[in-house]
Amino acid sequence: MEIDVFTLFPEWFEWFQTQRHVRNALDAGARLTYVDIREHTPLSGRQVDDTPFGGGAGMVLRVDVMDAALSAHYRMDAAAVRDTRRVIALTPAGRPLDEAYVRELSEQPALTLLCGRYEGLDERIVEHFAGETLSIGRYVLSGGELAAMVVCDAVLRKLPGALGHADSAAEESFSDALGGMPEYPHYTRPAEYRGWKVPEVLLSGHHDRIKRWRQEQSRLRGLQRP
Ligand code: ADE
Repeated sequence: MEIDVFTLFPEWFEWFQTQRHVRNALDAGARLTYVDIREHTPLSGRQVDDTPFGGGAGMVLRVDVMDAALSAHYRMDAAAVRDTRRVIALTPAGRPLDEAYVRELSEQPALTLLCGRYEGLDERIVEHFAGETLSIGRYVLSGGELAAMVVCDAVLRKLPGALGHADSAAEESFSDALGGMPEYPHYTRPAEYRGWKVPEVLLSGHHDRIKRWRQEQSRLRGLQRP
């Protein structure tokens, strides 16, 4: 798996990259590359954005700037890149990210994430360079970087070797093992704290009963929450 993130703020990802599961995924062969859009701008003064046609607040990331960054990095026509890999523009109104979408992306050999800033991306970037748009929720962030980190985190932890324990991702929330339901509740020591007890069944040592209890809890949670 190879993920390229096009961003105006590559330094935002420095911390992200130090996280254990991200490092594990990279050690296991995944590749994360950050492309500084500003490094490729053909405009003077390292300009990357401009005021919106028709008026309005904020600045819009220019299509010619993204064109230059994509074509310099991939050494091909920027509009052809999406024929070679999944190119995703991060936008608040995009396809909502959920577990199925994450799984779909984790099965791709290569992803490109385009981060907008300010008021967002010139729509021609979305139309001609991206193959799809992705949203991490119906709210507006000040840019796509945090959304890109969410995508990278969710996708990379799906890769073999990213999590310490081989089963950790198999039976987590929304997995096939749980029939797409949220995960059951977890408890650890102490078995009793301030009078709050861990469910007896978990201390019973009966694996079948524990399994049934967990499945039932997972199902109940699925009914309770949207
Ligand atoms: N960029 C700004 N807000 C966003 C969101 N909610 N999801 C994805 N990208 C974004």
